[in-house]
Amino acid sequence: MNAKPIGVFDSGYGGLTILEEFRRKLPQYDYLYLGDNARTPYGNRSFELVNQFTLEAVQYLFRQGCRLVILACNTASAKALRNIQQQYLPGLEHNSRVLGILRPTAEALGLLTKSRHVGLVGTQGTVQSGSYPIEIHKLFPDIQLESEACPMWVPLVENGEHNSPGASYFVKKDLDRLFERDPLIDTLVLACTHYPLLMHQIRRHSPPEVQIITQGKLVADSLDDYLIRHPEIEELCSKGGSCRYLTTEAEDKFQEMASVFSLTSIKAQQVHLNSL
Ligand code: DGL
Repeated sequence: MNAKPIGVFDSGYGGLTILEEFRRKLPQYDYLYLGDNARTPYGNRSFELVNQFTLEAVQYLFRQGCRLVILACNTASAKALRNIQQQYLPGLEHNSRVLGILRPTAEALGLLTKSRHVGLVGTQGTVQSGSYPIEIHKLFPDIQLESEACPMWVPLVENGEHNSPGASYFVKKDLDRLFERDPLIDTLVLACTHYPLLMHQIRRHSPPEVQIITQGKLVADSLDDYLIRHPEIEELCSKGGSCRYLTTEAEDKFQEMASVFSLTSIKAQQVHLNSL
């Protein structure tokens, strides 16, 4: 059997914040990161397009031999994961898995909130999909979830404006709306892989007693647990401690911007997915 890297997919750079935690927690594995930077952001795209783009990315990673792919993107997980798991994977001849990042986030919440009032910020696509309330209420029907779509946050980060007065304005505006709707929120989930870069602004504009949850560590712990529980998938993942980066955009552009998201220096290779 030919073991291959774990595939990690994001619409762009955001998934690098998740990949970093995978490499910290599970450094023994090889990883293959794919960012669909040419078509990012996914956040305000239609259900059909997010489905199509995500499926193309998964198929590409499967063609590279990956047998386990993580959708390190909330928008893709919220809109495309279920279709991929229910309609695409059963027809494959190889034993392959695609996992998302909503479930591990939902699982962690139940232990973190005391007031049982949780706030969630994400892209328009993630919030409008309604996938988070479904996942959370399956596990914790008592949690009251209040969500706010923050369409400006990803473009601010993508344009390197995350420390600017403009970022402060939009973060305050969106968070004020959220906390006004439910002042009992004690836990705020950053349900977008770009948002950890806005942490400074988010902390500043949230009530001090509110705990702010990022996903990287939660998702890495969950992957660790998954690999222990599924030795038949674990043995398909190669262990050389390497990481390769693929992008649908120009390589130099990816490398320059990736340094904002990751501590390591990144060399990427440009690839073309089906419909590009
Ligand atoms: N990485 C995506 C997420 O976590 C946000 C970026 C986008 O809109 O494509 O939701």
